[in-house]
Amino acid sequence: MLSQNHLHVSLLYIVLLTGTKYGCGGGGCGACTVMVSRYDQLHNRVLHYTVNACLQPICTLHGSAVVTVEGIGSTKTKLHPVQERIAKAHGSQCGFCTPGMVMSMYTLLRNKPHPTMEDIREALGGNLCRCTGYRPIIDGFKTFCDVSNAFNLFPQASCLIQSTCLLTNHISDELFHMDNVLPLDPSQDLIFPPELMKRACGSLCFQGDRLKLISPVDLTNLLELKTEYPEAPVVVGNTTIGTNLLLCHLLFVIYLLCVHVHAGVSVGAVCTLSSLKEEMEMAVREMEAERTRGYQALLQTLRCLAGKQIRNMATIGGNILSANPKYDLNSVLAALDCTLQVMSKENGTREITLNEELFTGFGKTALRPDEVLLSIDIPYSKPWEFVSAFRQAQRREFAFSIVNAGMKVVFKEGSNIVESLNIYYGGVGPTLVKVGRTLTPQALRCSALGRCATQEAACRFSDHVSLFHFKTSDIDPSEALGMTGVVTFLSAGDVPGQNRRMWFNNPEELFAEEEVTCVGQIIGAVVAESREQARRAAQRVKVTYQDLLPVFFTIEEAIQHQSFFDPKRKLERGDMDKAFETVDQILEDEIYLGGQEHFYMETQGLIAVPKGENGELELFVASQHAAYTQEVVGITLGIDSNKITCHVRRLGGAFGGKVMKILSSESDITYYSNGGCTLDESSFIMEKALLHMDNAYRIPNLRGRGLVCKTYLPSYTAFRGFGGPQGLMVMESVLHEVAVKCGLPPQKVREINMYREEECYTHHKQLFSPRDMLRCWDECLDKAGYHDRLQAIQQFNTYNRWKKRGISAVPMKFGVGFSKGFYNQGAALVNIYKDGSVLVAHGGTEMGQGINTKALQIAGRILKVPMSSIHIKETCTGNVPNAAPSAASFGTDAVGMAVKDACEKLMRRLKPVMENHPKYTWQQWIVEAYCQKVSLSATGFFLGPHTGVDWENSEGTAYYYFTFGACCSEVEIDCLTGDHKNLRTDIVMDVGESLNPALDIGQIEGGFVQGIGLYTIEELQFSPEGVLMTRGPSQYKIPALCDVPPQLNVHLLANAQNPHAIYNSKGIGEPPVFLASTIFFAIKEAVAAARRERGLGDSFPLSSPATAERIRMACEDQFTEMAPSPKKGTFKPWSINI
Ligand SMILES: Cc1cc2nc3c(=O)[nH]c(=O)nc-3n(C[C@H](O)[C@H](O)[C@H](O)COP(=O)(O)OP(=O)(O)OC[C@H]3O[C@@H](n4cnc5c(N)ncnc54)[C@H](O)[C@@H]3O)c2cc1C
Ligand code: FES
Ligand code: FES
Repeated sequence: MLSQNHLHVSLLYIVLLTGTKYGCGGGGCGACTVMVSRYDQLHNRVLHYTVNACLQPICTLHGSAVVTVEGIGSTKTKLHPVQERIAKAHGSQCGFCTPGMVMSMYTLLRNKPHPTMEDIREALGGNLCRCTGYRPIIDGFKTFCDVSNAFNLFPQASCLIQSTCLLTNHISDELFHMDNVLPLDPSQDLIFPPELMKRACGSLCFQGDRLKLISPVDLTNLLELKTEYPEAPVVVGNTTIGTNLLLCHLLFVIYLLCVHVHAGVSVGAVCTLSSLKEEMEMAVREMEAERTRGYQALLQTLRCLAGKQIRNMATIGGNILSANPKYDLNSVLAALDCTLQVMSKENGTREITLNEELFTGFGKTALRPDEVLLSIDIPYSKPWEFVSAFRQAQRREFAFSIVNAGMKVVFKEGSNIVESLNIYYGGVGPTLVKVGRTLTPQALRCSALGRCATQEAACRFSDHVSLFHFKTSDIDPSEALGMTGVVTFLSAGDVPGQNRRMWFNNPEELFAEEEVTCVGQIIGAVVAESREQARRAAQRVKVTYQDLLPVFFTIEEAIQHQSFFDPKRKLERGDMDKAFETVDQILEDEIYLGGQEHFYMETQGLIAVPKGENGELELFVASQHAAYTQEVVGITLGIDSNKITCHVRRLGGAFGGKVMKILSSESDITYYSNGGCTLDESSFIMEKALLHMDNAYRIPNLRGRGLVCKTYLPSYTAFRGFGGPQGLMVMESVLHEVAVKCGLPPQKVREINMYREEECYTHHKQLFSPRDMLRCWDECLDKAGYHDRLQAIQQFNTYNRWKKRGISAVPMKFGVGFSKGFYNQGAALVNIYKDGSVLVAHGGTEMGQGINTKALQIAGRILKVPMSSIHIKETCTGNVPNAAPSAASFGTDAVGMAVKDACEKLMRRLKPVMENHPKYTWQQWIVEAYCQKVSLSATGFFLGPHTGVDWENSEGTAYYYFTFGACCSEVEIDCLTGDHKNLRTDIVMDVGESLNPALDIGQIEGGFVQGIGLYTIEELQFSPEGVLMTRGPSQYKIPALCDVPPQLNVHLLANAQNPHAIYNSKGIGEPPVFLASTIFFAIKEAVAAARRERGLGDSFPLSSPATAERIRMACEDQFTEMAPSPKKGTFKPWSINI
């Protein structure tokens, strides 16, 4: 039974099954994928297709069957083969994306039991995963393909390892086996409920207090309703309306649910984009190529337009009439001279041409309010007519285009004389633009560079916020408090304990008290019965601000205002000043690295349960640092920590984002990072960047200074790598530029400068041996065939003018452990019960990195019991107090040692019993020990290394040990569009003696793919007013399946040792992110090849991420000259480089 408040809501809210996940709420992540089945009366068949439950209005599902992940199998009953195979192939880490992945694959198999790799790629194109790097998911699913079909994607993905099982010592070179897996048996699938085939299709009306939804019975009824409610939008796929509804909180909308209009030669307006694609594919297959050139162009666009789920929901009519210039179809359809059939009750049918005149503004068309679109006529191509479509997006697939274009040229028969030319651009203005003689250099620049007025328009919609003093008396929540469902409003004065938390003596307010120092700062909270009610009410809280100047957001401005946080750090080796007096050449340069969003799929959540006695409180939270959550909640509420118990079961991804709350930032190097308005972890991040700046190189004179800029941006927190990838990247850029200046291959300069002696000291005087680092480097170049491929690339570049390739390799040395020594500790509690079962509790948090699996392995090895007898329930502050955060790649080291310690204690206690009863089973020993009053519960503790740095003297053992690696990547760029393709990556990683190769390789691939995001795609855009504009997956793009190099080879270094950590293993969580910088440097090599051909120098600025726009501009040519950058200060940019 739907409550009135729930009429508009998506399927996701209503189905109270928790398998289907809520990630973004806007169709952008695929976590909420479910299968919808409908009976198609016309063709007497049942259609199965995936949808994003978050955008599927519940009312539109009348007569449909919905299958969620619970419906296909579970660990309680029996896993479906899809579930089993993704699990076996280690395709799930935090597991948040997994149900969505499973449902996409399940639906594909329902429709096609023997899919090709291309089918799988297409089916998963709308599902994001932030953890795995996708390879293991594909590996699991590709087992459903016929062997003959399993080509192409990740052909060599099986990671090349020789692994030894910790428990059995069995040596294997495979990550998983598919022996004895369940066969796919379609006869076991759920049937479509027969009663749904007989349903009478009548008109439906749903009336709520804010909304009315009407489903018309037929076209006549629709036209009548449109006359009655001309302003009501026609909801078909809901993929435009649904997302706007979320963003704009529209009130009093009346929906008309559309009927199907049959497509003849022309395409019906409600034809979904998936059906359109199928129809176009059929036409291209069955008709002469000459007649289908237009369809081929459309297909080119449709293949990368959104993901499969959105294409299953979205319709061609909705795409056109949304009148959004970023949508791709209008430019192509206009170039093809398509016509629209529209109809109204009063005026009947009329035909209009789809061209620039149809679009009267952003989101507006020339259709009259009472008209509906019936169909679109897409003409066949004629002889001598050639059509092409183009789109450039932030990501190659599943991303809105920055610019799109449709082009048609007609030649005079048998000649090369152009008779007519039709070129339309989308994304270069608020409406579709037809290219005529009037194309201005500005528009040309937009189309070439992807900077466009649409984004300016988007910025106008953003909150325009200036800064501001305010006093708490200036907050007026009275209107909000009067709204339905609202319980109360809380602000600083309501906090019973302290309104500020301390982080190493740096205070941070929960609710702003006197001064708001950034956009988005929390000033109060509305408590309401539902999230929607709270959101709506929050809009009605009135706050009066008083402007406070100066306000600035960028590093440049912070330097001007000398606005820095303390402490300012410096590390120095050798004598820099003296060295500068004697060197041959001095090279000065700067590199800008953008920040990165954690984009963990599971958003933050917390349930607090007051226990009613003595102020006791139970917290169920997804935090990487349960002890800190317990402490801060205690301080805020004025309750002692002993009354607060914090439970963490597992986290849907974290990557450092759930410890507290992004770092943007030779030799003599000064690092600046934008710390935002409060310090948070920024100074520690800066320290880590400085501590990593030597990377693999022994540079005798090296100085780094680190300054954290205080600006009026929100203060973000650390991301995986915690400053390491930034520190390393800067050093690699230095070596790259030195190579260019000296005219040497970059890899040669790297080799010349590497640490080589058996005993080396870092720039902060920490002793280490680079032997395994050098082995990683040599093996990586060898396995990648670097030298041969370099030659092949040079040849490719000679023969290709507009496409260039580049290859780059980097070594890596990455510190493991906390440089703040006190965090290097771990604790565990192990209980053995009388039935022989074992319960392990430890202070780490499981977020997909496999810490629990490794803890189980360790306990199993020491206690000599099977892993199935050991259980880990949750992380709980009541069992293991004061635990350090699971971070710094140190979780397993700390927790593993503590579990080992506890288990060894227990084994020492059990030893006499075992010796006295050598024939007993484990369970008998335990019962016997119990009878002898032997304690079967033990705590374990790991006293980690005393790391620390003396910053005054630039010395100290900052890390426990170093994890080494090397990586080589090859890319291809398109010099005209700035697009790039990642072709191949080879990684050799030293993880010591891996505790679990499958988990370690999962971390390497996952970290590497996140690094692809950091260095090439993920771009945070801030408005000049300091508002983050890239919010959510529609604006901020993380790598999707299409970004993973089709050849991704990961090798674990054989015979590697690490006497410092548990069972000779090494921490691996953070280091691999940096390896993706090889993609950045390979892009730089490719751009340099393009520039060389035009007589330009190899030295040029390229900021990270290397986006399409930056690559295009770096490939300077006659076209970029036609669109010069406007002078600074002569225009207001739509986004700023913070
Ligand atoms: C995550 C995501 C990614 C996307 N990526 C892309 C992309 O890469 N490229 C791209 O081009 N698009 C993309 N889209 C947009 C998507 O293609 C459009 O939202 C979709 O085509 C709109 O169709 P719909 O049926 O969902 O429209 P609805 O949301 O149902 O309606 C949209 C508008 O069209 C009007 N309308 C619809 N049909 C009719 C009709 N027959 N008569 C009169 N008015 C009508 C409605 O009144 C409404 O104003 C993406 C969307 C999402 C959510
Ligand atoms: S939650 Fe539905 S697509 Fe992200
Ligand atoms: S496993 Fe895919 S998002 Fe975590």
